[in-house]
Amino acid sequence: MIRFRLIGRFHSICWTAVAAFALSMIGITPLAPAQGVDNVIQPGERWLDDRGQLIQAHGGGILRLKDTYYWFGEDRSQTNDPDKRYVACYSSRDLAHWKFRNQVVAIADPENLGPKWILERPKVFYNAKTRKFVMYAHLDGPGYKIARVAVLTSDTVDGNYTYVKSFRPLGQESRDIGQFIDDDGAAYLIFESRPTKGFFIARLSDDYMDVDKQVAFIEAPLEGGAVVHYEDLYYVVGSHLTGWRPNSNVYATAPSLSGPWSAMKDIAPPEMNTYDSQSSMLIKVAGKKTTSVIYVGDRWKPQELWDSRYVWMPLDIGAGNLSLPKPQNWRINVRTGVVSIVPDSKP
Ligand code: GAL
Repeated sequence: MIRFRLIGRFHSICWTAVAAFALSMIGITPLAPAQGVDNVIQPGERWLDDRGQLIQAHGGGILRLKDTYYWFGEDRSQTNDPDKRYVACYSSRDLAHWKFRNQVVAIADPENLGPKWILERPKVFYNAKTRKFVMYAHLDGPGYKIARVAVLTSDTVDGNYTYVKSFRPLGQESRDIGQFIDDDGAAYLIFESRPTKGFFIARLSDDYMDVDKQVAFIEAPLEGGAVVHYEDLYYVVGSHLTGWRPNSNVYATAPSLSGPWSAMKDIAPPEMNTYDSQSSMLIKVAGKKTTSVIYVGDRWKPQELWDSRYVWMPLDIGAGNLSLPKPQNWRINVRTGVVSIVPDSKP
């Protein structure tokens, strides 16, 4: 059986080599080893969807419905109309292979903010009462002076989302946003407020169309805010304010979402600059054997945003400590929750 599998693999390697040679003869350079082969996730490498196109889900968010994960994010495709802003949606059952579902947002400036208007970091929540999918995104104008959230809705997870409104949550400036859904299903918006030098965690209203109340204000000028509830603690991760340039991201913990929050500590050796990435979200996979938490970061390429990479890596987490290991190839079994590092096959 093993021998059979090895032979099968040998054949597929041969065919890959033949195909690569054939492509190079006609002037097409084959891509680096594909993500998702044997479920391997390769942090920082090109990540292609089922169509063979670069996944466009930058500054993204993940929504899990039953056994399917939906990944939403900024679609920065070069072919996009420069006057519009786009959000793409992908689905996966294993977190490694992603199927393109739809460009769920493709809208022109909804609030007359001008040609450089901004729609970033989309996050989608599902409201079981209204049966609506509610998307929050950072809406801004030139120079990031508007600092609001936009709300869009759809009746289906991957439908075309309709623009509804924008507002400043809790009356505060709101730039980078994050999404947190607790184990009890309660939904929260995390948003960065520059004048107050910190980020807010606010509970969404019953229909998710507004924020209801402030749950915490974490006094630390950070963005890219992401929260996870792991064992008996809440962990928040954020980045310093250096735009698309990476910096050393930090974390804090609290026994309850409302605090008290600990002091911030680095998630990796500070000189590594979070392995050239910026926090975007934390995915908790509670499997039959164990629970794993995945750090999801963006490795931005400001001059070629469409080719910005994703740094996904399982965290070492527990007992109040969180650390991001050096990115290596890895895989996860979403049913058991078990992650494993895949040794580098290069000599
Ligand atoms: C970062 C932010 C990104 C994007 C970028 C633009 O600080 O996290 O989402 O807004 O600035 O410079």
